[in-house]
Amino acid sequence: MCGIVGYVGSDAPGARPQGVVMGGLARLEYRGYDSAGIAIVTDDRERVAMSKKAGKLVNLEKHLAEHPLAAGTAAIGHTRWATHGAPTDANAHPHLAAAGRIAIIHNGIIENFAALRAELQDEGVEFLSETDTEVAGHLLAREVSTGRSLADAMRVITRRLEGAFTLLAVDAREPRTVVGARRNSPLVIGLGEGENFLGSDVVAFIEHTRTALELHQDEVVEITPERVTITDFSGFVVDREPYHVDWDASAAQKGGFATFMEKEIHDQPTAVADTLRGRMDEHGRLQLDGGMIHESILNSIDKIIVIACGTAAYAGLVGRYAIEHWCRIPVEVELAHEFRYRDPVVGVRTLVVAISQSGETMDTIMAVRHAQQQGAPVIAIVNSQGSTIAREADAVLYTRAGPEIAVASTKAFLAQITAVYLLGIYLAELRGNKFPDEIEALLDQLDAIPAKIQRVLDTSEAIREVARTMADERTVLFLGRHVGYPVALEGALKLKELAYIHAEGFAAGELKHGPIALVEEGLPVIIVLPSPRGRESLHSKVISNVQEVRARGARTFVIAEEGDTEAANYAEQVFFVPSAPVLMTPLLSVVPLQIFALELAAAKGYDVDQPRNLAKSVTVE
Ligand code: AGP
Repeated sequence: MCGIVGYVGSDAPGARPQGVVMGGLARLEYRGYDSAGIAIVTDDRERVAMSKKAGKLVNLEKHLAEHPLAAGTAAIGHTRWATHGAPTDANAHPHLAAAGRIAIIHNGIIENFAALRAELQDEGVEFLSETDTEVAGHLLAREVSTGRSLADAMRVITRRLEGAFTLLAVDAREPRTVVGARRNSPLVIGLGEGENFLGSDVVAFIEHTRTALELHQDEVVEITPERVTITDFSGFVVDREPYHVDWDASAAQKGGFATFMEKEIHDQPTAVADTLRGRMDEHGRLQLDGGMIHESILNSIDKIIVIACGTAAYAGLVGRYAIEHWCRIPVEVELAHEFRYRDPVVGVRTLVVAISQSGETMDTIMAVRHAQQQGAPVIAIVNSQGSTIAREADAVLYTRAGPEIAVASTKAFLAQITAVYLLGIYLAELRGNKFPDEIEALLDQLDAIPAKIQRVLDTSEAIREVARTMADERTVLFLGRHVGYPVALEGALKLKELAYIHAEGFAAGELKHGPIALVEEGLPVIIVLPSPRGRESLHSKVISNVQEVRARGARTFVIAEEGDTEAANYAEQVFFVPSAPVLMTPLLSVVPLQIFALELAAAKGYDVDQPRNLAKSVTVE
């Protein structure tokens, strides 16, 4: 969950290495922002130039303005989300070794660092930080001191490291080189003209090049201005085809909105449309993005288990209603960090669906591996191209939400729901649960959703006004039923994440089994009302819930379908969304809740893009 950037350019020392690295760090700051640092290889062959500061990137920028570093030919930079060691200057990356000749940065956790640290201390090495990263730096120093090149030294040490790591290192005596390595943590390569780049994701260098290469598990990369060499940890060279990055630099900008959060909420019609686009082949069969699971296997599955965390898990909860209804296959949704510890019943006839925006959530990665060890085929629904979960799954269905910079997930959530619907339609068609005309009707209904989301966005002022009046609220409840229940959970999570307000989502039917004791005078309760066209008069049951909480003094705000006039008889205020097929309504009803959380947090003056304590991708268990 740290931001990593590497750059190597022309032989003549200049300002470009620092400029490229600092610009990349600014784009990557959402991955972690406890501290930041940069190391530059200058014309000093004994020491690299280095600067690092705790706190956000702006602290480093100010420090560099007052204490500029010398011009250079290669540079590495890092923004950190602390795992080992508090966010201090000393624990910030880069870490130096060999009396400042070597600099190293790291994303991940080296699980055997304590034993390695003791080994080095027995050799007289003195440590300046509490980090696991510094251990890797001193291991590198030990190898280069024997005469090994930096790349050879990296290959030696990575064979000793356990856990998850992306490492970048530079050596003052190799001014034209940056070396990287990866295991269980992302690293991508940007190919330039007479210059090359490294980054924890493509956003790091996207303004300079859109030609990229993936570094895969247990590989080392050495970049010079002219050459990129990839090997495995044993030194065997790997050939790999570059790919075109279809996100341009502007896509990662705020697009005129005040925050990435606002922009990404407004990106949602496009995110859903892009995720749907071009999915069916000429025979009307869904095209997955990578890998494949043989149709005979998909025809044989008798259970689906969705594994995910946080918002991604709620997308799975929404998808469960659709898949069970369309495909008649039982679907379980399990929090990834709980999955493998419950000793789940998983086998070759269990299809596991891993949902993850980043594709780097360690809880979900480990759950995927557990499922595969049990013989289950795994389909990944992921937003980040080439990420670990995407590569390790048996098949991939990419959401096409574009880079989601705000830590709290919005457009990725809608894209995930859309992708789960696509998977359900694919399975229903493959297994014969739906006729082609029914498949076509479902796809047409989905194609109509982006315009409906746009209508919700265009009519959001009323809920923004309500949100701005609630800056002092300390508790908000969210109620929903059927597909509205995961929407209530997501609405509560958004409010927790963004406005730091205690919020809880409940299944509306659960209210009378305890939670109603929470209801008191003035308590805001937001209710996602089922469509009146839904099943078993769920609508009237939830209307009763509105009455129950209102009778006990709650302030009731209802999300209802256009034309549903009954809610207004019992609610303080009703916010309407366009009608849609019952199973697809979450794509619309969640949007007012996203906006509510955003507006309330902004009214409190909070940083909605980088909420406290959170990181965009949780790459530790
Ligand atoms: C979403 O708003 C949260 N930031 C968080 O719950 C997130 O959804 C979860 O950590 C899973 O992340 P992933 O989708 O990248 O795996």
